[in-house]
Amino acid sequence: MRAEDMPAGPAPDRIAALRAHLRGSQVLDRDALAARDPGWDAGNLNAFALVRPGSIAEVARLVAWCRAQRCAFVPQGGRTGLVGGSVTTPEQLICDLGALDRIEEIDPDSGIAVVQAGVTLGALQEAAAAVGLHPGLDLAARGSATIGGLIATNAGGITAFRTGVMRHRVLGLEAVLPDGRLVDDMTRVLKTSAGYDVKQLLIGAEGTLGIVTRAVIRLDPLPNGRATALLGIGDAAQALDIVRRLRAGSAPLLAAEIMWSGFVAATSAALGLDPAQLPLRSPCLLLVELGGTDFEAARIALEEALAVLVETEPELDGIVSSSMAQSAQLWRLREDTEVLYRLHPQAPSYDISLPARAFDGYVERLRPALKAIDPAIEPYLFGHLADGNLHIVLNRPGPLKRDIQAAVEAAIYGELRGLGGSFSAEHGIGSKRIAALQRHADPVKLALMAEIKRLFDPDNLCNPGKIVA
Ligand code: FAD
Ligand code: MLT
Ligand code: ZN
Repeated sequence: MRAEDMPAGPAPDRIAALRAHLRGSQVLDRDALAARDPGWDAGNLNAFALVRPGSIAEVARLVAWCRAQRCAFVPQGGRTGLVGGSVTTPEQLICDLGALDRIEEIDPDSGIAVVQAGVTLGALQEAAAAVGLHPGLDLAARGSATIGGLIATNAGGITAFRTGVMRHRVLGLEAVLPDGRLVDDMTRVLKTSAGYDVKQLLIGAEGTLGIVTRAVIRLDPLPNGRATALLGIGDAAQALDIVRRLRAGSAPLLAAEIMWSGFVAATSAALGLDPAQLPLRSPCLLLVELGGTDFEAARIALEEALAVLVETEPELDGIVSSSMAQSAQLWRLREDTEVLYRLHPQAPSYDISLPARAFDGYVERLRPALKAIDPAIEPYLFGHLADGNLHIVLNRPGPLKRDIQAAVEAAIYGELRGLGGSFSAEHGIGSKRIAALQRHADPVKLALMAEIKRLFDPDNLCNPGKIVA
């Protein structure tokens, strides 16, 4: 049966047609989807069907079917996206890339990995670590987030200050375009200056310009050992000074995460940690990690670096992990952000960037501005200090009423452009931040984005309703 001959009628007919057309794919109907975990967003599995192609050729066949049926399709990886980029409606179909989970090659000589889109970040980290390398990207959702999703959202995370964001890690890319063509740009080298870099359009496009199927990822050397410290500090400026001095040392600084004490109070309470043992009297906490040849070497380097710091910062308080297990616990304090959403279901959250030197002034102005909207609002503040990425989660259940939301967004986003920052740092636009994009982006850029979308996807079938209004 050709794709054009498929029944466009009721869902059971379409499911049967899909199964007949895509024999190398798993096809789940609504009943099967209802029993599945939708991931971060409750709306992810609202589609009439989920197709899990077993090969790249099957992805292309699926897109051809969708074109013939004029059926909108939504690519999905680990469903960990935080901005509703993979939510679906009952007329839409999910293209789940989870079965394309093959690490095709790790080449230690050229420092690259060739991977399929459904490989999780954790799986790639593990495979690369076996030869002393790392993909240069790390984030708490590593166990589920896929390379395709990370590329589609141009993810950032913990290591971005050192190794860049996903855009900087992708050397080559392959994707099925909305018209069914496969674009093969699987370059394995850093240097290629051969006309428009089309793959960069697909990176950060959140599945609106095509389905990423494979990629070549750059790998960097990985220190064997790492040691962690949690430091109590006065403010972000002090944290930045510490970061600058640690970066100047001989042991590589692997992480520099900032948390304001309200955030750590919430996560430590949920983890059952004794608050007296944490530097919670300080307004801010800084989680730093140094690398070394093994854990012990990294720990000694960290102790020595902190001893030098204490000479000029005698009030510095903190904990240095004495084991890998203790390091993991310190990391849970930072990474267990789900705690906030359990305390405040659907809490409004924001993901902004600004020069880190401006953090303290920004936070000082933000708190009273939020209180002026509603005296009960208290922001949880945390983020990736060294690249200027601040996460803000409110202690309110969401969604906020329209007028409150508008006032909150004005308070949070208002001064970012002037500071040279962004209202969307690393999570993307998805369906949640479209209004903010319309409000804050340059109109010429918006017009070009709409033209690019029309060029790639004139029928608006590829993840419609995301990024582009
Ligand atoms: P999904 O959630 O399935 O999809 C996300 C978007 O990508 C959707 O628009 C979808 O249509 C599209 N997409 C998925 N696969 C493909 C594909 N193969 N081709 C084309 N489009 C595709 N993000 C950060 O940047 N930094 C962080 O520090 C960070 N921390 C997080 C911590 C937690 C606890 C959680 C839950 C999330 C965090 N995230 C973070 C967000 C999230 O992990 C990223 O957005 C991730 O890149 C999404 O990958 P995924 O495979 O889950 O994609
Ligand atoms: C993080 O850095 O923890 C995420 O990007 C933000 C979140 O999970 O809310
Ligand atoms: Zn983050």
